[in-house]
Amino acid sequence: MTQPSDEPTQPPRRRRYAGKNPRRFQDRYKELAPENHPGIIEHVRARGRTPAGAHVPILVAEVLACLAPRAGETFVDCTVGFGGHAIEFLRRLAPGGRLIGFDVDQAQLQRTGERLAEAGFTPSLHHGNFAGLAKAVAREAPEGVDAVFADLGVSSMQLDDPARGFSYKEDGPLDMRMDARRKDTAADLLAKLSGEELSDALRDLADEEDHERIARGIEQARSRKRLGRTQELVDVVFAAKGITRKQWKDRAPGKALHPAARTFLALRILVNDELATLRELLRSAPWCLRAGGRIALLTFHSGEDRLVKHAFEEGLLQGLYREISPEVIRATNEEIRSNPRASSAKLRWAIKP
Ligand SMILES: C[S@@+](CC[C@H](N)C(=O)[O-])C[C@H]1O[C@@H](n2cnc3c(N)ncnc32)[C@H](O)[C@@H]1O
Repeated sequence: MTQPSDEPTQPPRRRRYAGKNPRRFQDRYKELAPENHPGIIEHVRARGRTPAGAHVPILVAEVLACLAPRAGETFVDCTVGFGGHAIEFLRRLAPGGRLIGFDVDQAQLQRTGERLAEAGFTPSLHHGNFAGLAKAVAREAPEGVDAVFADLGVSSMQLDDPARGFSYKEDGPLDMRMDARRKDTAADLLAKLSGEELSDALRDLADEEDHERIARGIEQARSRKRLGRTQELVDVVFAAKGITRKQWKDRAPGKALHPAARTFLALRILVNDELATLRELLRSAPWCLRAGGRIALLTFHSGEDRLVKHAFEEGLLQGLYREISPEVIRATNEEIRSNPRASSAKLRWAIKP
């Protein structure tokens, strides 16, 4: 007969999930471990998708055409990201040229710095906001630089990683800070902004037509419990718009904008103070360029594009620029097919006298 044991009984171990649809972001995309899946990156790209953990640079040929990098020149890439544009500049600035780079995302900047070093390039990279452009140029290139470039917004790596909280597609903490040193997360702002401030932000920053109803929904939801997860906010938006997730899924045509897309955009802009930093860049850039210097800015929503357009037009009138792009430059259908994130991109350029 078996004697009862004094040993504490171990709870049964939870069985490993054996389904076909892994739940963790890290397990879901084979391209995050390309060493285990040879050829996976090329396969994903061939299907017109951006491999998770990577970022496909947008309008590269057009950016190179307007900035015309030449050997020996000094360029600033204000938003290094995955380094897609930076590496193209670096290839053309050699020999003798220099790239000064900024990114607010330290982890990303470090990984990109390592990748660029492996490719034989050593740009001067700054973990910092491009609003500090003038100071960095005064220190590193007091004679001025030949070009300033910025590709605004978030990278695919930031957007795809649920832990960053940028995406309405996956559940994650409502963070949305590009720079971890920023004090307030999206959850903090949702807790402390008034209903009116939320409503105004949704209308002004993202043209959300249901801004009042969503702001009211946020106020009601937070009176019961702090909104801390992306999917809690998505639920509030669906409820405010009077549809269920299932109705949306059944009814949405393939490319329709997700009901929560504008709410997430407005919050991201608020959390990272994106319009104020862009204004500062537009104000300081002409003073950082040397004679004949070029600036090219890639934006992804109408509020940003309006600021760039007006700043360049004003600059032309004031003689800060001698020429500006006559119209906005957009991605070709072919580029959009292979990289859908290019569809909202708008490029404008200006040249200093
Ligand atoms: C669209 S991605 C740039 C992608 C890059 N051009 C490439 O091809 O890989 C934008 C990057 O800019 C950074 N960023 C956004 N706002 C910034 C700011 N105000 N100052 C510095 N970096 C910023 C983000 O962290 C992100 O890595």
